[in-house]
Amino acid sequence: MELGCCYFPEHWPAEMWADDARRMAEMGLSLVRIGEFAWSRIEAAPGQFDWDWLDCAIETLHAAGLKVILCTPTATPPKWLVDQMPDMVATDESGRPRGFGSRRHYCFSHAGYRKEASRITAQLAKRYGQHPAITAWQTDNEYGCHDTVLSFSDAAAARFREWLAARYGDVDALNTAWGNVFWSMEYRSFGEIDPPNLTVTEANPAHWLDYRRFASDEVVSFNRVQVDILRKNSPGRDITHNFMGFFTEFDHHDVGRDLDVATWDSYPLGFLEQFWFSDEEKRDYLRQGHPDIAAFHHDLYRGCSNGRWGVMEQQPGPVNWARFNPAPLPGMVTLWTLEACAHGAEFTAYFRWRQAPFAQEQMHAGLLRPDSVDAEAAYEARAATQAIAQIGPQKIAKAPVALVFSYEAAWVCGIQPQGHSFRYLELTYEWYSALRRQGLDVDIVSPEADLSQYDAVFVPSLPITPTAFTQKLSALDCSVLIGPRSGSKSTSFCIPAGLAPGELRDLIPLTVTRVESLRDDVCEAGDSWSISRWREDVASEIEPELALKDGRGIVFANANVRYVAAWPDQSLLDLLIGRIADEAGLALQPLPEGLRIRRSASHIFAFNYSNSTIDTGPLGFGTPILGEIALDPAGVAIWAKS
Ligand code: GAL
Repeated sequence: MELGCCYFPEHWPAEMWADDARRMAEMGLSLVRIGEFAWSRIEAAPGQFDWDWLDCAIETLHAAGLKVILCTPTATPPKWLVDQMPDMVATDESGRPRGFGSRRHYCFSHAGYRKEASRITAQLAKRYGQHPAITAWQTDNEYGCHDTVLSFSDAAAARFREWLAARYGDVDALNTAWGNVFWSMEYRSFGEIDPPNLTVTEANPAHWLDYRRFASDEVVSFNRVQVDILRKNSPGRDITHNFMGFFTEFDHHDVGRDLDVATWDSYPLGFLEQFWFSDEEKRDYLRQGHPDIAAFHHDLYRGCSNGRWGVMEQQPGPVNWARFNPAPLPGMVTLWTLEACAHGAEFTAYFRWRQAPFAQEQMHAGLLRPDSVDAEAAYEARAATQAIAQIGPQKIAKAPVALVFSYEAAWVCGIQPQGHSFRYLELTYEWYSALRRQGLDVDIVSPEADLSQYDAVFVPSLPITPTAFTQKLSALDCSVLIGPRSGSKSTSFCIPAGLAPGELRDLIPLTVTRVESLRDDVCEAGDSWSISRWREDVASEIEPELALKDGRGIVFANANVRYVAAWPDQSLLDLLIGRIADEAGLALQPLPEGLRIRRSASHIFAFNYSNSTIDTGPLGFGTPILGEIALDPAGVAIWAKS
């Protein structure tokens, strides 16, 4: 794995660049990402290009032996462009145009902006496409950041109508599919259909789902335009995009298919603070991040681009954007870096080289302080460099277990949660965490992935279950665990004839006759486990494998397939994973609180996310080649596989 950093030469006097480059190389970095927000310096006024500074920056980095990941600057269209085409900005859900003065203000559907984005991409690609320093391209920056996938602009409305016409052919088919007879919502032509915002009460969920599918396709096609230009003008270079954490607003599997390498931006402390974790977890893992945050995304994004992935932005210290922004434990930046390596990352780049003393992110740490002195993370990057050199190149090993992840499932559950705590992302994360607490390595895969090589397959929830997916599951002889709400909706967001789980009934003969959601303070008990949030009444000829104390069935099994008709707690997940592991001949390794392990093809890595020293002796791996058997907080130990 290579190391790198995100650098903004345009933020610093040119006299500093050579020394910066020298220090990067000295720190063990070999990659530098530049340019993602630099449009106003590349083209200060329409057609008035200034390449000198960028030529010089690239030459300076190249001369220091650094490789450059060059970005298209389309996340930050400059003021003159917005003034030229004021309707290129996105419109938010309340119908307000998004203003200039930060970033990501464009609408993915605006034809004029798409043209401008292509123009600037082509300019960059033609100028630098063959430059020996350029090793890869990043398209744009973090599609969707700051809630920008959905736009309700006139441009979006017009393209949505075209998208619907292409999907349904005639408007009666749409009326039938959506069930528009309900509340007299029938349309006479596609031209009559608006985006689903600004309705008095909720819009038809089928309308919302198609709007989300459409908006996701808009991101895919916006990205593809840039990819095509870059491929043509810069052959042999990888193309990537930097995805975000805990983000499901567009289908990353679809965007990933057009990329060579999927990358993501890893901010474990910010994510812990901003997402659903309990107060206790936020306190316990304040300076580490929850132990599965980074790993979950490593495994998810590895599945988005044929196994090639990296970390484009790694948190180096306190960030500026969470409610609270603590500093990582000493050692944590090294740990996060080595964890990416264990999961098969091609590179990890720190965000950012030097902390900026001005503008929005002046409180965001870098590898250097604003006064250019090494910040804590600089020492940790050096430690990571040494560790990586010591263990040598790592190859990813196929995990024994697959967890199926679907962006469409996230949209369906978000559009019609039915209980406010039914959050798809959280459900999948809990299942993933449960597998990792048992010491299992996991591949997170799309419903389209080949599942035939796994020892066990977990499907936390898949409300719309494509026929091809059901057929694929039927062909498996490994254990399969299917979660609640699977098969509960048709493609057009209706309850299937014959009720849930729809076609999955071919695998497991049961019918979900009624569902209920539960208040946050309610859980219902089985023997040594409980369920919360969501429970289904199931009618079936088969006796439940596990039932609540009052006899209501929760887990049903048929041959190699199990269905869990509720939101399971940790103990129930542990119990089910234990049974599946027995059937599959999988060796489990229940781990102490806060410890995680991950195997590459040649090594075993252990990461201590807890606040106390953990004795790794009982794991039976012997003497580590790196790190200690008694692993301190933020410690990493690595063993060569025998
Ligand atoms: C990312 C973004 C960067 C920077 C960073 C700060 O979301 O891509 O440009 O803003 O967050 O943590």
